[in-house]
Amino acid sequence: MAIPGDKSLSHRALIMGALATGETRIKGLLESDDVMATVAAIRAFGIDVERDKNAWTVRGGEWQSPDKPINCANSGTSARLLMGAAAGFDLTATFTGDDSLRRRPMRRITEPLERMGARIKGGDQLPITIRGGKLTGIHSVNQPASAQVKSAILLAGLHASGEIVIEEPVPSRDHTEVMLRQFGCEVGVDGAKVAMRGGQRLTATEISIPADPSSAAFAWLAAAIVPGSEVTVRDVLLNRLRSGFIVALQRMGGDIALDNVRGQHGETIGDVRVRHTPLFAADFTADEIPSMIDEIPALAVAAAFARGETRIEGLDELRYKESDRLAGLAGGLTACGIEARVEGDSLLIRGGSADGGEVETHNDHRLAMAFATLGLAAERPVTLDGAGMIATSFPGFVPAMRSIGAEIDELE
Ligand code: S3P
Repeated sequence: MAIPGDKSLSHRALIMGALATGETRIKGLLESDDVMATVAAIRAFGIDVERDKNAWTVRGGEWQSPDKPINCANSGTSARLLMGAAAGFDLTATFTGDDSLRRRPMRRITEPLERMGARIKGGDQLPITIRGGKLTGIHSVNQPASAQVKSAILLAGLHASGEIVIEEPVPSRDHTEVMLRQFGCEVGVDGAKVAMRGGQRLTATEISIPADPSSAAFAWLAAAIVPGSEVTVRDVLLNRLRSGFIVALQRMGGDIALDNVRGQHGETIGDVRVRHTPLFAADFTADEIPSMIDEIPALAVAAAFARGETRIEGLDELRYKESDRLAGLAGGLTACGIEARVEGDSLLIRGGSADGGEVETHNDHRLAMAFATLGLAAERPVTLDGAGMIATSFPGFVPAMRSIGAEIDELE
């Protein structure tokens, strides 16, 4: 089945294209609300971005002060990566977003950017104004691991003198490091430590974006929990720092086969087939979470159909996503008749079968998709209190799921 392009790579390709010298062509860009927030933002910085029948083209250059606030809508990746990228230019920009984004923590970005020399007005939350300019290197020890924070620092570092060194407790997704190399930049990686010489220039390139494993996860989940099913997603991003959900499903007894695995622009891609088999509970520890941080809603739903009690530890960061996903998951699972509880930073789920019911999505796209998928294997239907926000990451979710047999009614 067809799954749209990867969200993380789409944001990065646009932003790096906007920083590079020359014309970057991007094929397979995810055309979701979040990514369109990044398109609008880089246009507001004075960068030319166009779409033709086959690809998007970005002509990089010097960013200018936008004449109104940059509205990142629901997209944390837009806000955080763009704040970093903008900080190295001689400009002033205010960043804001929707209610959800304005509640999310931003000090983790502004603190290192200030240390690099950017002047910042605002607290831990948007709106925040950045006065960019000449930056210096930094040695940043990030806690918790966050690819958005790491990426913001690296993108700012492109305009910094000196060395950029970032250490994380466990490695977060490394798409920025990989793509910076594709744009001609030298970046060193040693375990969870990244080092880069500041002030490097990017050269435009051509990029093809593979399918998003975080969207594919819902199709794989459907295959794993609905008896008799089998689903194959082709050309999907298989970066090992994003593949935790595949490994987790396998540990629960999932029947998963990878095929046609190959490299593309320094990333790994391939085809993934999931076939239904009975699932069994498993325990997941904190160090496994970064590689499936966006797939915890899907994993929790898999656990709802797995025999025994699943324990997922180290979920504090879920509280700061598009909603408090830890509370939202426990609430939604309980509403569907599944025994689930939060203990500290852990989620415990007693699986077997699910009843179905009415679920609050808290305007969170991944909660909506996870619970819609739960409905495919529940005794009774699942009704969501909204689904419009699914377009932030996976426009076409409903037709895509119908194409593999899901029955979904759209109520007004
Ligand atoms: C992202 C990183 C993750 C993830 C988000 C996208 C990225 O956040 O949850 O959806 O593209 O860098 P953190 O790494 O900040 O946890």
